[in-house]
Amino acid sequence: MITIAQSKIQETRILMSNIKNSTEHYPRLLMCAPDHFEVTYEINQWMQPQTWSHNSSELLKVAQQEWRFLNQTFKTLGFDVELVKPQPGLPDMVFTANAAVILNERVLLARFRFQERQPEEKPFAQYFELAKRKGLVKEVNSFPVGIFQEGAGDCIWDNQRQIFWAGYGPRSSKEATDYIGDYFGKEVVALELSPRFYHLDLSLSPLSNGQVLYYPGAFTGSAQKIIKDRIPANELIAIDKEDAENFVCNLVNVGKQIILSNCSSQLESKLNNLGYSVISTPVRKFGLAGGSVCCLTLKLDLTSKH
Ligand code: ARG
Repeated sequence: MITIAQSKIQETRILMSNIKNSTEHYPRLLMCAPDHFEVTYEINQWMQPQTWSHNSSELLKVAQQEWRFLNQTFKTLGFDVELVKPQPGLPDMVFTANAAVILNERVLLARFRFQERQPEEKPFAQYFELAKRKGLVKEVNSFPVGIFQEGAGDCIWDNQRQIFWAGYGPRSSKEATDYIGDYFGKEVVALELSPRFYHLDLSLSPLSNGQVLYYPGAFTGSAQKIIKDRIPANELIAIDKEDAENFVCNLVNVGKQIILSNCSSQLESKLNNLGYSVISTPVRKFGLAGGSVCCLTLKLDLTSKH
């Protein structure tokens, strides 16, 4: 596993340019710099505003450094990174995965459940209007009022199966499922989540070769059954609680490359045996807000095969 650490940034850059596969399509990602990142409210079980307030300036400094390494890692690997302007008072805007669901240049803007994040809708909408003018996307739409849906954080495109997996319960409404299906013309499989793992991208990650990483404990009994019915046992990789709580599923995967915050050596060897290589860029301070690598990105140019 390659771990990105400040002392080794030069070394890892060289290593990464060696492993970078020039024939691979590296997606265009949307990120938001953590200029105003902080934990001042509590809308999930990981957030502890008190802990943050005791050491806020040091925590922010480290978070900003972690984000810069992550951003640099993506760029070194060959990803295009677009930036949306951070807004004061919107600390969770760094989690761009929640901005929208995107496929085939069509954008469905998120509707946040909690009032703390609702003001993010406007700057994200403004960004996407700009992205449309720049030709990065073709169409921008919104969910109907009354339906909550928290973007790609709760709606994951499975390129192998050509379906969306959609999380609902703690954040997104179940009704969002049909709306996404109609809008994109794709099958959407709805999975009910438990409160602790409130967004689907914390606990399920389809990989490029068809395997799916997931944490069973994040799902209700019926959602676990749906997962097992839809994915053959040899492609389904259940991770343990420790990896789940380190947000291992919250990874970015392109081809053979997996970029994540950190994972156990057992899981890493499992992934290596399946042909994947793991790059670890720790973003633990964002864990204090309940997010990790994947949440800090949004794929702007996802396309389906047909
Ligand atoms: N504090 C943010 C929230 O609770 C974290 C969002 C993490 N994003 C994600 N896609 N899982 O909404």
